[in-house]
Amino acid sequence: MSPAGQPWADLSTPKKRNDLAMTVNRRIVLSSDHAAIPLRRAIADHIAARGWEVVDIGPTTPESTPYPKHGEAAARRVASGDCELGIVLCGTGQGIMMAANKVDGIRCGVCADTFSARMIRLHNDANMLALGARVLGEGLALEIVEAFLTTGFEGGRHAARVEMIAAIEAERHPKPRPEA
Ligand code: RB5
Repeated sequence: MSPAGQPWADLSTPKKRNDLAMTVNRRIVLSSDHAAIPLRRAIADHIAARGWEVVDIGPTTPESTPYPKHGEAAARRVASGDCELGIVLCGTGQGIMMAANKVDGIRCGVCADTFSARMIRLHNDANMLALGARVLGEGLALEIVEAFLTTGFEGGRHAARVEMIAAIEAERHPKPRPEA
């Protein structure tokens, strides 16, 4: 059992992490710009083989295409609840992460190491992961994805901090003043 009392967050051994990944059947959206199509496809195959339902929203052809629209499109799938998690990629991961985070309810982090990928789930309850296809080799990228997908939110003191992020978003949409 994890410190948070959640069996799904017990990741103390590689076996438990693998068991977890194999027992879930969840829906995840993938998108990228032109810079990351081959890596996105490799990740899609990897995740599908682990039992996830993959919603790959492209693009599929190599023409230059702006990362903000793909980051936003994936983020809207997550924010609407259509997909539980999302993975987005561009050359660095940075631009598409910035775009995804503009959608309310999205907590997206760029990761170039597995420690960060675990921590953004444990402490930040990240619902999206951004990767840089010009930064990472495929092997490391897949390990980062694995760490992200097999780690649960720890809750506890971190829940209040995540709620504070939502409160910042709420301030962007002040409630209309009631009519007199
Ligand atoms: C596209 O050349 C590149 O700018 C983009 O993939 C990304 O790295 C932006 O953050």
